[in-house]
Amino acid sequence: MLTEVTATRYITPLREGGSLPGLVEGDDLGVYVLKFTGAGQGRKALVAEVVAGELARRLGFRVPRLVTLDVDPVLGLGEPDPQVQALLKSSGGTNLGMGFLSGALGFDPLAFPVSAEEAGRIVWFDALVNNVDRSWRNPNLLWWRGEVWLVDHGATLIWHHNWPGADASAARPYDARDHALAPFAPDVAAAAATLAPLVTEDLLAEVTAEIPDAWLEGEPGFDTPDDLRRAHARPLLARAAAVHEHIRHVQEGDR
Ligand SMILES: Nc1ncnc2c1ncn2[C@@H]1O[C@H](COP(=O)(O)OP(=O)(O)OP(=O)(O)O)[C@@H](O)[C@H]1O
Ligand SMILES: [Mg+2]
Repeated sequence: MLTEVTATRYITPLREGGSLPGLVEGDDLGVYVLKFTGAGQGRKALVAEVVAGELARRLGFRVPRLVTLDVDPVLGLGEPDPQVQALLKSSGGTNLGMGFLSGALGFDPLAFPVSAEEAGRIVWFDALVNNVDRSWRNPNLLWWRGEVWLVDHGATLIWHHNWPGADASAARPYDARDHALAPFAPDVAAAAATLAPLVTEDLLAEVTAEIPDAWLEGEPGFDTPDDLRRAHARPLLARAAAVHEHIRHVQEGDR
């Protein structure tokens, strides 16, 4: 399970990001980006953040620390924005906190160098988790202390919105033509050779164990949170070995 932190102060809305994440302080004095359980895609977006984020971390990517943030809606009483008030009101209980990278810059492909090797690893990972949210329009990559960090995995694992089709999605192609790192000649074959063997049943069990029960309970078709954890691991395990063969790259004249 992720470390449990209680939010003690709502600092400010981030003013970026469709789900209106906020900045909060925790009872451990850490500062976190708060992703609300009451936001658009609800708890499934938070499950995706945890599964993709914790998997990425274990594969060696830089991902901000993830914790659960217990939120008391009274925290928002002084917040003038009615949208934020409403989010806080509908998000009492367990939310997601992501360590705030203070001073991080949005990724700029013209300003920050990325090797073909690192680009390949990130594109391969995004293909594995079906990440449609790493385009050049909205890279969800941060540049912090001279390195690339991955954020915003709420739109990954699209198959968990439709469980009957989840296993079939293992063979679905990934379109990397709009990927933020497409210009860096991503070497996905090299990435697949080193990363795919690491995606084992044991590793995925460890990753899915991090999902809080509160976001898994009551899913139609599943008796227990652990059943649903296993269902999250299965498509990733099936997809890992061959996903690099299903990545569509930039081609002449495509743009
Ligand atoms: N851990 C972090 N540290 C610093 N800045 C962050 C962090 N997480 C997110 N941000 C900033 O806040 C923005 C919005 O966050 P994020 O992309 O996670 O939210 P979202 O609502 O899911 O966004 P989207 O509009 O992409 O769906 C990011 O693009 C980034 O600039
Ligand atoms: Mg984003």
